[in-house]
Amino acid sequence: MKGILIFCLFVSIHSSFSLFDNELNLKCTGRKFENVSLTAYYPDYNDEDNEKGYQDSKGHKLRTLQDHIDDRTNYVTLAMDQSLKIPYGTKACIPELNQHFGHRVVFEVRDTSSDLNGSGYRRADICVRTEIDSYDISVNRMATLYLSM
Ligand SMILES: *[C@@H]1O[C@H](CO)[C@@H](O)[C@H](O)[C@H]1NC(C)=O
Ligand SMILES: *[C@@H]1O[C@H](CO)[C@@H](O)[C@H](O)[C@H]1NC(C)=O
Repeated sequence: MKGILIFCLFVSIHSSFSLFDNELNLKCTGRKFENVSLTAYYPDYNDEDNEKGYQDSKGHKLRTLQDHIDDRTNYVTLAMDQSLKIPYGTKACIPELNQHFGHRVVFEVRDTSSDLNGSGYRRADICVRTEIDSYDISVNRMATLYLSM
């Protein structure tokens, strides 16, 4: 009986520590932009003539939010306005999405589109796995964006 009690105490202390670690991990740092409108896009493998459908602005494979959550890639491709001239690979963090997924989501600005032209820091386009994923309200909302620059 006493052994069980001690064991339970240990488990509860241990889990409250990891909860604390996790909350710290979900915080973002860097240059902060409020009220950024998030949208989502997905790789298009169907158009064989257009490799750009599944490549970022430097020809690397697009990395999706779902693959990142599944731990299959260490970042998610983020597209922003090219006129901002954000250096390729700049890390980005969105606290609302960290909270939503209970996971630190690492974004990297590696793409752009003509659609984002002129939108400045007011928009960011998140790469997701499929068309269905692109309709998820969690990636079609206003959020706070932090850029490590
Ligand atoms: C963002 O929106 C909120 C609520 O609409 C507003 O209070 C705040 O001033 C806005 N921030 C910026 C930087 O526009
Ligand atoms: C973006 O807009 C600028 C002018 O504001 C224009 O020169 C440029 O060609 C546009 N780029 C794309 C990809 O549409």
